[in-house]
Amino acid sequence: MDKLLITGGNRLDGEISVSGAKNAALPILCASLLTPDTIALKNVPALKDIGTTVRLLGQMGVRITQEGDNALSLAAGGVHSLEAPYDLVKTMRASILVLGPLLARFGQAKVSLPGGCAIGQRPVDQHIKGLAALGAEISIEHGFVIARANRLKGASIRTDMVTVTGTENLMMAAVLAEGQTVLENAAREPEVADLAELLIKMGARIQGHGTDRIVIDGVDSLHGAEHTIVADRIEAGTFLCAVGATGGDILLRNAAPDTMGAILDKLQEAGMAIECGADWIRGSMSRRPKAVGFRTYEYPAFPTDMQAQVMALNTIADGTAVIVENIFENRYMHVQELGRMGAKIDIDGHTAVVTGVPALSGATVMATDLRASASLVIAGLAARGETTVERIYHLDRGYERMEHKLRSVGANIQRIVREQA
Ligand code: EPU
Repeated sequence: MDKLLITGGNRLDGEISVSGAKNAALPILCASLLTPDTIALKNVPALKDIGTTVRLLGQMGVRITQEGDNALSLAAGGVHSLEAPYDLVKTMRASILVLGPLLARFGQAKVSLPGGCAIGQRPVDQHIKGLAALGAEISIEHGFVIARANRLKGASIRTDMVTVTGTENLMMAAVLAEGQTVLENAAREPEVADLAELLIKMGARIQGHGTDRIVIDGVDSLHGAEHTIVADRIEAGTFLCAVGATGGDILLRNAAPDTMGAILDKLQEAGMAIECGADWIRGSMSRRPKAVGFRTYEYPAFPTDMQAQVMALNTIADGTAVIVENIFENRYMHVQELGRMGAKIDIDGHTAVVTGVPALSGATVMATDLRASASLVIAGLAARGETTVERIYHLDRGYERMEHKLRSVGANIQRIVREQA
């Protein structure tokens, strides 16, 4: 397995181009199943999870062509399998996103249940409940969700909690249902809105995306479309945290600052100077960060996907920060590793109390999930001495060429590629 070797202490100065959002690209790739026509996508990030989705769709018979860097076209005219097997779903939970589109267009689907993962139990009961409300017959057999319907019928659905992929799955199912669907308590994340924008370009009738009440009037069929994936707010936020921790001045191009309000506010509170244009963000830091507490909630509040990175910033801040993780029950696995670098963090249930220390010291640490890995990289960039981050395949799932981007702004970071036996 590859690892990253980081020598901390360098300031970060320069420009970075932000990639397309992983969590928008994944449902959008799955939306190609809704039409036999071609979906042409730009700004698709080159990530392991995108490769897994391409493999999954390819196995089903979707024809996928790479049209140059970060551009893909997908044509689902020849789909011959309506199944998402366990070996792919277990490596990427977002595979559940084929369930809604397959059921809506082909009337059946068989998708492996994802099971738990490092950050929490993460059931998909709300996806299933919503599809059943749309008229699907659903059973769980041998670890698979098996769903059937002649034609889905619009319904009013209120999910028990706000769920991002649940909202996306139900929206993709409802666009081809007969009649009107109202999704109450819907996720407002920019990635959900970006999926809705693509579906509208394909001929879907959707209103209210970006709010917690999405109204969908089903249509008989959808057609091809072109779409550019929205910028990754979490990737952008991660680079800003890195500068917050090391000091420096970076300009993020191809960013979407209008999707990043809570993140930018928090970084300003920590002492960063932030300036934004329509598609760029400049972030600079010339002092020790101030400790900043926060609670993770659904968008537009502070995102769980930035919790670990802002915690890394807090480890070297002036003061004490109280962090509450409200979305996932087990998303503090970076805490122990940060502790190995000298961070002072106490956990009590969902609450973490971080007491800033003057400096971290480099160590060998283990990445346990995607955002935990990013927090260890930030800590390593700020620490004294060398840090080795092991098991970085998690990082490759969600950050496009992270070490190249960081090196281009002055970080001392290298990938050690492990020889295959
Ligand atoms: N939940 C249920 N039942 C369901 C669905 C969700 O109990 O049927 C619970 C979850 O266990 C969790 C909460 O509801 O406690 C919210 O989960 P949600 O469904 O919103 O998460 P997700 O859709 O599985 C997406 C992102 C995650 C991100 C979360 C929260 C994608 C592919 N993944 O997951 O991204 O953390 O929303 O914003 O969009 C990441 O990129 O690192 C990542 C984990």
